[in-house]
Amino acid sequence: MPRVTINGRSIEVPAGTNVVEAAKKVGVQIPHYCYHPRLSIVGQCRMCLVQVDGQPKLQAGCSMTVQKDGMEVRTDVPEVEEGQRAMMEILLINHPLDCPICDQSGECGLQDYAFKHGQAFSRFRFEEKRTYPGRERIPLGPNVLLNMNRCIQCTRCVRFTQEVSKTGSLGFFNRGARTEIGTFPGKELDDPLSGNVVDICPVGALTSTRFRFAERVWYLDKKPSICTGCDVGCNVTLEHRRGQIRRYKPRANPAVNDYWMCDYGRGTFERYRELPRLAAPKVRREGRQAPAGWKEALDAVHSALTSRSSAGSIAFLAGPHLTTEEAHLLSRLADRVGSPHRGVWVDGGPERTIPRPGGAISGSEAGPNRRGAELAGLATPEGGLSARDLVEGDGAADCAVLVVADSDFGAGAHEPETVARLRRAGTLVVLGWADTPLAREADVALPIATHAETSGTFVNVENRLQRFERAFPAPGQSRPGVEVLGDLLSRFGGEWSDEVTPGEVFDRMAADQPAFSGLAWEEIPATGAALQAPTEFPEPEPAP
Ligand code: SF4
Ligand code: SF4
Ligand code: FES
Repeated sequence: MPRVTINGRSIEVPAGTNVVEAAKKVGVQIPHYCYHPRLSIVGQCRMCLVQVDGQPKLQAGCSMTVQKDGMEVRTDVPEVEEGQRAMMEILLINHPLDCPICDQSGECGLQDYAFKHGQAFSRFRFEEKRTYPGRERIPLGPNVLLNMNRCIQCTRCVRFTQEVSKTGSLGFFNRGARTEIGTFPGKELDDPLSGNVVDICPVGALTSTRFRFAERVWYLDKKPSICTGCDVGCNVTLEHRRGQIRRYKPRANPAVNDYWMCDYGRGTFERYRELPRLAAPKVRREGRQAPAGWKEALDAVHSALTSRSSAGSIAFLAGPHLTTEEAHLLSRLADRVGSPHRGVWVDGGPERTIPRPGGAISGSEAGPNRRGAELAGLATPEGGLSARDLVEGDGAADCAVLVVADSDFGAGAHEPETVARLRRAGTLVVLGWADTPLAREADVALPIATHAETSGTFVNVENRLQRFERAFPAPGQSRPGVEVLGDLLSRFGGEWSDEVTPGEVFDRMAADQPAFSGLAWEEIPATGAALQAPTEFPEPEPAP
């Protein structure tokens, strides 16, 4: 590999690596706007100027590649700093200087570089700024609005629609100083990946209709997480404030979603606001659900599971949103009461596809973790009642006790016929975060945390195990699922307790379940771990 020296720091990089990427490897950040690692190089903004030994003029680092040994690059010399300052001055001639009222403020490339590489005054005093009257709030599609006054014409958005989503929806129109971004007549930016142009726009020209002016970004806390919209398991940054998720943004992971996510996934957290919350444990007394303490509720479940008449007819139905660790503890509960009746239900969904350099990834299940739950011990064994037997068949009628986790396991949890079928079990226990029609039919309802309120792992469509961390605590009396199931299991003997953590469950599961062997919670890489042996999965249950 050729060796390049940047600001005196030397490194070997694969031939063809551009100077912006090579510099990152030695900790040197070269400012850039039009360059994006997954888009073609256009050398349009000239912000990435560097000095290359032997070249008479400054060069654009994004379009300069390292081809052979001995290249010497400098970004810390006065000529480069002067070049960067001059580019900032040109860009700011026409850009509005109204950051306090711009939605991008706080996460804007222009704002950041103006502070770092610009100057505190403008020499441009004698003419009006160029503006685009009437082009300040142009809907490009259902998810994206354009403010042309803020565009710095980097063409990232245009190239995204040409090269990644391949719709070609956006183009440059007019010429010279009147050049502007737009859609072609009669067309809209309405493909499933359209929201990504908002993320890659370096300024506030493109904003999200869902998020614009909903929050100032400096109030948001951020946590790496996983989208729960389907079994692709896109990596996201979960941005939250006061116990509410405000936004998902894609988090780069070349092994899963690369730099992108779909528009559907961006809105999946809204379900946490749309459905009423199950805030406290409830136990049915004299035909009516009434609030109860955790001890009373869990004692009631334990008593139902151990009563003599329950033997042989206890079933466990899980949903695809359960974490792998929660699913494992549910399977341990099924083992403890000697029940083979267990299964994971997942609704089928539309196929969602994310482009990646090595081939796109697609998912078509309406939940992130059917595979993880089955690998953790909830796959239906021979002779057991399956999820389909329970949700679509009459299986529940034969059950003295049916434990459903979770209350929003699929569309069936909201359909009167399916709820009535599940209600035929002698005792119905429901765990979940949502107060759904199914939860309201339960004899015992147990409120557990959402995926934002607990830590855990999901296994995606390509058998990649991915870990996520709790972003904020669960509200009211809700508790993380592993804590609730650990508490319940502790009533059967000393193996588990309510103090068990997802990490401890994972490590103990890895010792038992072959699919996870050799893995440890603390060592799961940030980009996830491919499960060792490709595992044959049963076909998902079809949509009801
Ligand atoms: S709208 Fe944004 S991404 Fe598109 S060209 Fe303008 S500045 Fe670049
Ligand atoms: S493809 Fe699936 S996991 Fe990825 S963002 Fe869309 S819904 Fe979420
Ligand atoms: S990033 Fe190099 S010219 Fe724009």
